[in-house]
Amino acid sequence: MPVVTCIEDLREIARKRVARAIFDYVDRGSYAEYTLRANRADLESLALRQRVGVDVDKRSTRTTMAGHDVAMPVALAPVGLTGLNWADGEILAARAAQRFGVPYTLSTMSICSIEDVAGGVDKPFWFQLYVMRDRGFSASLIERAKKAGCSALVLTLDLQIQGQRHRDLKNGLAVPPKLTAATVLDVLFKPSWAFNVLQSKRKSFGNLEGRIPDAKSLTTLSQWIAGQFDPTLSWKDVEWVKKLWGGKLILKGILDPEDAKAAVQAGADAIVVSNHGGRQLDGAISSIRALPEIVDAVKGQIEVWLDGGIRSGQDVLRALALGASATMIGRAYAYGLGAFGEKGVALALELIEKELDVTLALCGLRDVKDASPAILRA
Ligand code: GLV
Repeated sequence: MPVVTCIEDLREIARKRVARAIFDYVDRGSYAEYTLRANRADLESLALRQRVGVDVDKRSTRTTMAGHDVAMPVALAPVGLTGLNWADGEILAARAAQRFGVPYTLSTMSICSIEDVAGGVDKPFWFQLYVMRDRGFSASLIERAKKAGCSALVLTLDLQIQGQRHRDLKNGLAVPPKLTAATVLDVLFKPSWAFNVLQSKRKSFGNLEGRIPDAKSLTTLSQWIAGQFDPTLSWKDVEWVKKLWGGKLILKGILDPEDAKAAVQAGADAIVVSNHGGRQLDGAISSIRALPEIVDAVKGQIEVWLDGGIRSGQDVLRALALGASATMIGRAYAYGLGAFGEKGVALALELIEKELDVTLALCGLRDVKDASPAILRA
């Protein structure tokens, strides 16, 4: 096994192992990818403040997220098609997260279903919901998540309409994966992926079984999203979801202070400041730039988390410094999964935790909960 020292190493190994269409689906963003790049660039531009002469012997990265104890302020974000990076990827990622002590969020657009994951883990996980035009189906997803014992619902608000991902169209991304003249050469060089994923019994959208009559390709899926995801989704519907769910509710995809205030009004337990990892509104500001104003607007009434561009413990600390109480990672763990399966997800979490722990100390802090703007340099 190569010496893996950072998330970028996992990305590189995943890039070589995973079929190109699936890797690019994870890796890339929408349109010109301005926002995808801004998420990273704006995090990197935040300089941490080195402090010395402080006893940093006893340190803690522990905190809580929506009332759950976590080993560090990092949850696994919902990622579509996870199980096409590695067979049964959702179950493996959930196991790695649970063993590590951080929350796992299962996407509506997952390969393993809610029930598959519930059967494969022994602790509760979170479920991410897209609201469909067919409210009966949305309600049934909420019911299934309840029955599976999910301990929080993450309602995504920024994908009523899908932003175009040029790469997915150019790669002819298909679910279930399809061997075509254009992809066969790529897959020949990815035998480990091919044996693992192509032979797995779960290759299509587990939660939607019976709902996509002819799931031939992601062109069909994009059309399916356009046809099924509800573009009328409004705050009234958030109320409807909250009532049906009745548990912890996290609203994901907030990038504007006015929307953050609306989320407080809607009774959310937490919001995720997010531009969907640069996969939706290209040209939107980075999530780290949006964060301070949102933290101000929310006035401590609910928890504010951030996703988008987190690739290291340093990034986690930057987000905490600007007022987030926690973060979510998507690509960072998906690369780990694509590289080494369950072990790779565990490794991604370990890397980020170690970086966070050391960075905390070098900034002169002992507890992640003490992060504040004071640990940043202008
Ligand atoms: C779905 O959530 C996606 O970003 O592809």
